[in-house]
Amino acid sequence: MAISADGKVAARGAAGSGFGSAADQRRLVELRSPADALLVGQATLQADHMSMNLASRPDLVAARQAQGKPEHPARVVVARRPDFARLGQLAAKPGGLVWLVAPADGIQNTPLPDGVAVCECPPPDTDTCDEVVAALRGLAGREGWRHIHCEGGPRLARRLLSAGAVDTLFLTIVPILFGGHSAPTITGPAWIDSFARSSKWRMTASETGPDGECFLTYEALSSSSSSE
Ligand SMILES: NC(=O)c1ccc[n+]([C@@H]2O[C@H](COP(=O)([O-])OP(=O)(O)OC[C@H]3O[C@@H](n4cnc5c(N)ncnc54)[C@H](OP(=O)(O)O)[C@@H]3O)[C@@H](O)[C@H]2O)c1
Repeated sequence: MAISADGKVAARGAAGSGFGSAADQRRLVELRSPADALLVGQATLQADHMSMNLASRPDLVAARQAQGKPEHPARVVVARRPDFARLGQLAAKPGGLVWLVAPADGIQNTPLPDGVAVCECPPPDTDTCDEVVAALRGLAGREGWRHIHCEGGPRLARRLLSAGAVDTLFLTIVPILFGGHSAPTITGPAWIDSFARSSKWRMTASETGPDGECFLTYEALSSSSSSE
């Protein structure tokens, strides 16, 4: 995910996240390339008009084909109240099959757009929200996915991080300041509590981009009490 120098993933009002440079956009597509599936929260799909494909990089598509993989990774969208029009628009763009992960009451009696498949998750558990992570694990197991690349947003990233389901973090620090305390960070909205347990990470790569952004890679080490 791209963050401002003051740690925000979006400006006040959670407007779109398009503040990364062209180099960051290239990196985003390159990070997609080895994945079996790309994962995103519906709010991000809506805000950022995503395509979730490799269409801008025929070389990456060809490399996947040479490895016997589908041209594009599958696309997975997590939603409580699915925006079927938006999902249909996504499925109509080049890319892998679109999987909607949503509770049954959000799907009932609504015809699915072409190119969209459903993975039901249990009703929301307001305390832990682990039902989404469990549903994603089940889907990955059934589809044989070993590598899922999540592109946000913060609320979905928070669930995955809370569940210890993230092994690598790719961050781009962009030399821009948004200010304000209400803008979200990569671990969720500003009003949300801190994690029950903090997690430690090790930087495994760093690079400076042409526009002064920093491309950082972190790998998960361990979790410990949030009081540490
Ligand atoms: N800077 C970056 O790199 C970056 C990256 C990604 C996103 N962003 C920004 O982040 C913002 C959006 O992020 P966000 O944190 O608001 O949302 P999000 O993480 O993109 O989406 C969370 C989704 O979880 C769904 N959900 C909630 N409870 C659920 C349940 N029990 N079962 C299934 N689904 C459930 C919600 O569905 P409903 O919508 O139906 O409630 C919501 O769409 C945008 O401004 C975007 O531009 C920035």
